Amino acid sequence: MKLAESCMTEPALPAELQDPIDHAVRILRMGGLVAFPTETVYGLGADAMQPSAVAKIFAAKNRPPSHPLIVHLAAPDQLRDWVGTVPDQAKVLATKFWPGPLTMILEKHPRVPLLVTGGGGSVGIRIPSHPVARELLQRFGGGVAAPSANPFSRVSATLASHVRRDLGDRVDLVLEGDGCDIGIESTIVDLCQSPPVILRLGAITQQELEQTLGFSVGRINRRSTASPGQHPVHYSPRAETRIVATDQLAIQAAAAAAAGQRVVVLSRSPAPLKTFDFTWWQLPEDLAAVARQLYRRLHEIDAHGFELLLLDLPADEGIGAALRDRLTRAAGNSTVRST
Ligand code: TXA
Ligand code: MG
Repeated sequence: MKLAESCMTEPALPAELQDPIDHAVRILRMGGLVAFPTETVYGLGADAMQPSAVAKIFAAKNRPPSHPLIVHLAAPDQLRDWVGTVPDQAKVLATKFWPGPLTMILEKHPRVPLLVTGGGGSVGIRIPSHPVARELLQRFGGGVAAPSANPFSRVSATLASHVRRDLGDRVDLVLEGDGCDIGIESTIVDLCQSPPVILRLGAITQQELEQTLGFSVGRINRRSTASPGQHPVHYSPRAETRIVATDQLAIQAAAAAAAGQRVVVLSRSPAPLKTFDFTWWQLPEDLAAVARQLYRRLHEIDAHGFELLLLDLPADEGIGAALRDRLTRAAGNSTVRST
């Protein structure tokens, strides 16, 4: 066939092979769901102004409607459309940490649908820094409501393949990205309380927030249920998960393996010379590198069908505080579930 002829007869490229971000914007406008990479974890996004689209997020995740969603924006000048009064403290934090892994809870603008805020009067706002998320938000122009792109109470997704496997055809499009560089969810600070309170720890630490604000901030009690989505269990792999002192890891792993369990250990310590019948995955020394790969490791543990995960906790310093929070929740009481 001659080239000219083939061009004339060629059908238009299917939408998904055209620019994927333009395709994603069309899906958002039509009320569909788009999973997109951020620098923290993958988000499961819908147009925040379309309640019927937002409802699909709750259905896809099997998430209770009382759990509010974070609205993602491209730039701080959009705040006026989403927030009632923007306190000076929010401006200070925005200048220092946005775009980036910080979510601020602020007084909601009356136009924000109650489905987004879990029926409450506040709204969570974040301006992510991942280039794909930024491009999507800029081209879309509005707010994208997005929780982490995982089934309720399960491990957050840091790769497109995690989202495809866990949410499958409940998502209209999964955008590819070079990975989520931070690897754990954003720090959440509630500015509706005075002084502000940290609802969730992340890569931005309590010390950094306090240094920027110039005063002390509170930290919510981990086991409090005052804030939706802050229940003890979260981020859980299917394997039973136990926190163990570092010097007990090999002993307990050997005992469980001898009793017939498929056991894996996650630790920054090196594997013992003899690992008997269990698996030992050594994590990097650098805690930021641990955060970057933690959820991928937890997904792999499920994929390998391990039955028992033993891990030790890093020191409560820098991002170590957020890692302790996630790991403790992964090992939490399995009768209470969240997000
Ligand atoms: O890094 C992140 O924050 C990721 C990416 C996708 O941005 N998002 C994320 O969303 O982790 P999600 O829904 O999985 O966790 C957000 C938490 C939930 O526990 C939710 O209850 C809480 O933030 N939250 C959201 N809006 C809130 C509000 N107005 N008041 C109190 N808590 C809120
Ligand atoms: Mg989540």
